[in-house]
Amino acid sequence: MRDELDHGLTMDDWDEANDPRPETSDFDRVVDEALSRRGFLGGIVAFGSGAAVMGTGTLLGSTSAEALSANRFPFTPIGIQTDATVHVPEGYSWSVVARWGDALTSDAEPFDPATGHSTANAAKVFGENTDGMWLYSVDGHELLAVNNEYANRKTNLPGSEGVPQSLEDVQLLQGIQGVTVLEVAPDDSGAYQIVVDSPFNRRIDHNTPMQITGPAAGHDMLKTAADPTGTMSLGTMNNCGSGPTPWGTYLTCEENFNGYFGSTDADLERTAGQKRYGIGIDGWGYDYHKHDPRFDISQNPNEPHRAGWVVEIDPADPASTPKKRTGLGRIKHENAACVLAPSGHVVVYMGDDERGEYMYKYVSNATYAPGGDTEELLNDGTLYAAKFHADGTGDWLPLTPATTGMDAGEILIHTRMAASAVGATTMDRPEWVAVNPVAAEGYCALTNNKNRGVKPNAGGDDTSVNGPNPREANNYGQIVRWFPANDDHATESFRWDLYVMAGNPVVGEGAYKGSSNVNPGNMFNSPDGMMFDSAGLLWIQTDGDDDNEGEFEGQGNNQMLAGDPVTGEIQRFLTGPNGSEVTGLCWSTDKRTAFVGIQHPGGSFPDGSGLPRSCIVAVWRDDGGLVG
Ligand code: FEO
Ligand code: CA
Ligand code: CA
Ligand code: CA
Repeated sequence: MRDELDHGLTMDDWDEANDPRPETSDFDRVVDEALSRRGFLGGIVAFGSGAAVMGTGTLLGSTSAEALSANRFPFTPIGIQTDATVHVPEGYSWSVVARWGDALTSDAEPFDPATGHSTANAAKVFGENTDGMWLYSVDGHELLAVNNEYANRKTNLPGSEGVPQSLEDVQLLQGIQGVTVLEVAPDDSGAYQIVVDSPFNRRIDHNTPMQITGPAAGHDMLKTAADPTGTMSLGTMNNCGSGPTPWGTYLTCEENFNGYFGSTDADLERTAGQKRYGIGIDGWGYDYHKHDPRFDISQNPNEPHRAGWVVEIDPADPASTPKKRTGLGRIKHENAACVLAPSGHVVVYMGDDERGEYMYKYVSNATYAPGGDTEELLNDGTLYAAKFHADGTGDWLPLTPATTGMDAGEILIHTRMAASAVGATTMDRPEWVAVNPVAAEGYCALTNNKNRGVKPNAGGDDTSVNGPNPREANNYGQIVRWFPANDDHATESFRWDLYVMAGNPVVGEGAYKGSSNVNPGNMFNSPDGMMFDSAGLLWIQTDGDDDNEGEFEGQGNNQMLAGDPVTGEIQRFLTGPNGSEVTGLCWSTDKRTAFVGIQHPGGSFPDGSGLPRSCIVAVWRDDGGLVG
């Protein structure tokens, strides 16, 4: 994310400043481990072909591998770009589907680039900072469920330099974030547009009532003045990535929720839980706590416990109450990759996006049956954290009262502490997880971690270089992949390897050149969004440094690439406008249009109106061929 206010810090750097990690006291040990790890890493990088980085992996059977390798990249890859627009390969076109502020209903005021839009309008327009999304086909209607992750305050409050001055300003920001459900359809020219006044169109924001479900519902730590029962919540916060369920609902994931909270009592002594989750006195700059007491932790210390969850939404029912699924734990959730085990158990893979935090999975106790009751599938199950061993094996460690010494509700509310208690592996900021639909393997984008090998995480856990996180001060990122035992995502052991280590083969040194499937023609940094298409091609989106200088020279703007899981080959498909992150990917029902999110563009993309507007773009083949 890129939003910076007067403190000039990104969300990650703000967390750092707010809760400075102790410097390691054993510098020699860190250096020694880094050196020995470089030896191990050299082995990976030295393999000749792209396929070699998949060394320990279970490759697909030869027949399916051949089928999948045929015409794997049906596009001519493009070069980097540093300009202010979107680029796609020759033979493809793109257009804008929905921008922040575009009307969902015909009574919305027109968007005014001089003033943004009014608080009263917020519920009638597409929200800000598009992120994870999915398309649902409901009775012939195509519905996009889309996350609106956070606010670009200087853009959204142009009259007050981005600093909320009143409850009304706060309510404007609260109203443009959350989730949008919108119907889309092709117009006469075939380009997708919003269906204004569709009965499915819906805004879910920071004040929408939600039900709290699962084992932590009703826990004392979830009881607040607004809801003494601990079973209801207002709003969903910082909706980052997402994931569809097999039963047609949408999982939206609450990430940097901590930044909305602050304390009007500057001397408030924060709890260990508040410190671990980065909940501070000043907040990140939204200033909700100064105007809306619900966000003031000196008055409502339990309010932050109602955020940091995965929330299930039924896009087909605009009147439905969203459900926070506490069974999936409370972390800075990136996305939720939901897959069925062969037995029918529901498995949800999740990452906690902060330096040195963990990867998780949930396995349901019951099994899914098409048409059956799905209400308890995400409430009743076991949560695990990932432990990677240096020998290429790994284990999912169950988080239970016996393994953690915490009660069941506490494990779910303070999940980070539970994962620390079992000794899970600290990771380089786990972003999206994607599961291959045609092979039993999962992928997680570890976007970067400047603190790897430098200092511990917020809980004091060791973050020395380790197997899947092999580079000190890792500014490029990597994608780790795992192969569950018996090809069964519900099992507790796996083997793993690195699919790619991003790097710069031109200006980088040693391991910072990247793995052998990175070359001067496809290089990138900070993999973040990931999604498999139906044919098993891995789409990789980046949220990194786009200044195209120094260690990032030659990498250009943020981008979307396609990766072949079988050969390891990676090719660049799309570049975003400068300043933007490319995030969120889904496809039309006929798979002839891809929807791609462009978050926080610079300049005044896409319309030159004077204000930059995050937006969803449609991409299609000029010959009408399949794109997903
Ligand atoms: Fe919202 Fe970790 O990205
Ligand atoms: Ca972002
Ligand atoms: Ca992300
Ligand atoms: Ca990111």
